[in-house]
Amino acid sequence: MNRSYELNFPVGFLKDTSIVEVPEFDVNWIVQNKKGVELLSKEGIEFFDSIGINVFAFQRGDITLFRGNPNSEMDIHTDSGVCWCINFIWGSDSSDMIWYKETENTKTESDICTVNAPYIRYEKETMQEIERVSFSSNPKPVLLKIDEPHHVINYDDKYRWCLSIRDLSKKHWSWEQAVEFFKPYMDVE
Ligand SMILES: [Fe+2]
Repeated sequence: MNRSYELNFPVGFLKDTSIVEVPEFDVNWIVQNKKGVELLSKEGIEFFDSIGINVFAFQRGDITLFRGNPNSEMDIHTDSGVCWCINFIWGSDSSDMIWYKETENTKTESDICTVNAPYIRYEKETMQEIERVSFSSNPKPVLLKIDEPHHVINYDDKYRWCLSIRDLSKKHWSWEQAVEFFKPYMDVE
């Protein structure tokens, strides 16, 4: 079983993304919570609703928006809440998401992200890569495993934007259950 799967959904999801405004932070990778209705199309919201995925289950209707700077990488971290998310990526023509496992030398540090959520940062030099997926321009929506150490590297000279849907009402799902649920929208068996 992989840690990422491309998804074929029958509708478009993103509204005009040029409307997205992000305050200036002196960090490589900004995370923001945005109202879902501002960024997702009506058809997209209705589609998720029709298959029982509540895009508004994350903190009062918020969805998570990431902006990665050109030629930069986010810290290696593990997400809490749900073990899976569906990401919509745009802006960058070249980026990788990479998963790691701990080694006997793994070092961690506590930090706070730009929405004031605490997280554990893993020192990259003390981690071992176990899986990697590459995204080129305008990738399909993707189902991703986020409960193991991971991060994203943006190799492009442009910003990398990513809208992330996390349905907290499904936090009891295992990764296997999430993959099974979204299998009808995958090319693989
Ligand atoms: Fe993450």
